Amino acid sequence: MDCIVIRGGRHLKGEVRISGAKNAALPILASSLLARGTSTFKNVPLLNDVDTMRRLIVGMGATIEPADAAARTLRICTDGVSDFDAPYELVKTMRASVLVLGPLVARHGRARVSLPGGCAIGARPIDQHLKGLEAMGAKIALEHGYVVAKARRLHGAAIVCDIPTVTGTENLMMAAALAKGRSTIENAAREPEVEELGRVLNKMGAHVEGAGTSVVTVEGVEELQPIEHAIMPDRIEAGTFMVAAAITRGDVLVRDVVPEHLDAVVAKLRNAGAEVTPEEGGLRVRGRGELSPIDITTQPFPGFPTDMQAQFMVLATRARGQSVITETIFENRYMHVQELARMGADIVVDGRTSVIRGPSKLSGAKVMATDLRASASLILAGLVAEGETEVLRVYHLDRGYEKIERKLRGLGADVKRVRERG
Ligand code: EPZ
Repeated sequence: MDCIVIRGGRHLKGEVRISGAKNAALPILASSLLARGTSTFKNVPLLNDVDTMRRLIVGMGATIEPADAAARTLRICTDGVSDFDAPYELVKTMRASVLVLGPLVARHGRARVSLPGGCAIGARPIDQHLKGLEAMGAKIALEHGYVVAKARRLHGAAIVCDIPTVTGTENLMMAAALAKGRSTIENAAREPEVEELGRVLNKMGAHVEGAGTSVVTVEGVEELQPIEHAIMPDRIEAGTFMVAAAITRGDVLVRDVVPEHLDAVVAKLRNAGAEVTPEEGGLRVRGRGELSPIDITTQPFPGFPTDMQAQFMVLATRARGQSVITETIFENRYMHVQELARMGADIVVDGRTSVIRGPSKLSGAKVMATDLRASASLILAGLVAEGETEVLRVYHLDRGYEKIERKLRGLGADVKRVRERG
């Protein structure tokens, strides 16, 4: 397994281009299953999770061009889809595989999708996905660890989610797009990626209103058409680089971002004392003097994103004073704390709340990545630690960050990837 080696102490300078959003690409690639024909997607990020989604869709009988090369433009032809399975081997590596469930049931009347099982950050059930599909007339059975769903034709339904769920909302929007009649999804997730999927479905000929708000209305249609679409930029990758600029007292222009996707993140960076200024096509972040402590509670969008919690914990270790971070979305999203503590961070976790006292002098160490955003926080810590940090199991990182070491090197960081020998 590869590792990433960082020597801390550099101030990041220059500009970095943000890749397409993982959490937009995954539902959008899955939505291609709703239509017959060939869809073209541009600005697709080169990520392991995207590769997993490709393998899922090809495994169902679709063809994807180019077949092998890592390409940012994909052409997906779904004419040959004849298998409606999402196998455990793929789903266990990426729970977002569940996003094929809605499209398969809606277009083909059946699907057999492995239950995702838990993951490092929590149980992450899919009960809301299943409840919504049942309301639309699907018969759902759980057999040998798989969800087996069948429906002659889904019908519209009034669905109220118990909790705003991003992929749950996305699955139900896609299912409703081909259901007979009108569906409403209340307490829907409002993330920009949900709004973007609504735009994509409407490009395909669907009638979706309110995507990105807490009430989504869908008038089902008989058929959807393949489309061409460019994936929007990744707000979490952008936020990660913005934190890197702030904590290294750098000066970085983060390009190709959608500023309004980052309001909560920008507000907290400014609270901490970083300078964030909109510039042509991006946001410039300057880390000036000492950072101030911050209090953060993760919330569904437009609140502070849980996917930025680990990164801000590193910022909090650099701030003079006590910061408090409360993680309300996932029950176990503090896997990075122990590793940061080994580098010298002063962090106390009590249930869902962590208290960080700073500034701590972080020292480089060999540390273990456990999940995607925890890995990012260890990279950030390495950028400001004294000496050398070696982050192991970077396959977690490769799931959601495209060539992060190359992008950081482009900003002057002393970072390299060491490929595992043998
Ligand atoms: C999406 O995951 C993102 N993944 C996650 O990003 C992100 O952390 C999460 O939303 C929250 O913003 C993708 O979009 C591919 P949820 P998702 O369903 O949809 C509970 C990353 O790092 N819940 O919104 O799986 C659930 O347990 C990843 O890029 C139910 O109880 O998250 C959690 O506590 C990590 N029942 C909360 O809702 C359900 O049926 C929010 O989960 C569904 C969810």
